[in-house]
Amino acid sequence: MKNKILITGGAGFIGSNYVELIIENAEDQIYVLDNLTYAGNLKNLETVSHLPNYNFIKGDICDETLIDSLFKEYQFNKVVHFAAESHVDNSITGPGAFIQTNIVGTFNLLHSAYRLWMNGPNQLKEEYNNARFLHVSTDDGLLILYCKSYACTSSRIRLFYLQRINSCGCSGIRYD
Ligand SMILES: NC(=O)c1ccc[n+]([C@@H]2O[C@H](COP(=O)([O-])OP(=O)(O)OC[C@H]3O[C@@H](n4cnc5c(N)ncnc54)[C@H](O)[C@@H]3O)[C@@H](O)[C@H]2O)c1
Repeated sequence: MKNKILITGGAGFIGSNYVELIIENAEDQIYVLDNLTYAGNLKNLETVSHLPNYNFIKGDICDETLIDSLFKEYQFNKVVHFAAESHVDNSITGPGAFIQTNIVGTFNLLHSAYRLWMNGPNQLKEEYNNARFLHVSTDDGLLILYCKSYACTSSRIRLFYLQRINSCGCSGIRYD
């Protein structure tokens, strides 16, 4: 089966290495979505950017309208979500970006996947019965107490994600 795989944060450190690996299956179409923050660099994707199954979209996962339109247009059946504010030091001086990307952005992706893949809670559409949502995120922030925003976003995401996935009957895996 040919997959349409959305990879968020694919221009970052882990995402770009993952794209290099997964793009070897020429049957699958790969859609890298990244808004190229200070952490993202298209040079990380130079080795694969010439391949016919590589597609790059510059965009922000916090943009709900964009995310929903991408799901509708490309009909992704797999999501591998790496996009994040990932440098803990930055959360001390600029927590807002962590809240937006790590919580709101992740919610947008989950919500669009839900709308495309499901008829309702526990009702996966037949054509999406192989759909998967993989969230690769961090756990080290959980060690920081007293609501440093990074810690909060990480733990809130974990809670929300598990609730959302379980209550909807979606298939989802979260790697920390
Ligand atoms: N690198 C590690 O050692 C490590 C270890 C454990 C967990 N993690 C977690 O894995 C995930 C990926 O880590 P990484 O090291 O590849 O991160 P990274 O900072 O290198 O890359 C993040 C990517 O996301 C993109 N991005 C950021 N905000 C975005 C937004 N709003 N919309 C679209 N794209 C956006 C950036 O441009 C960048 O390309 C993060 O959640 C991180 O916390 C990383």
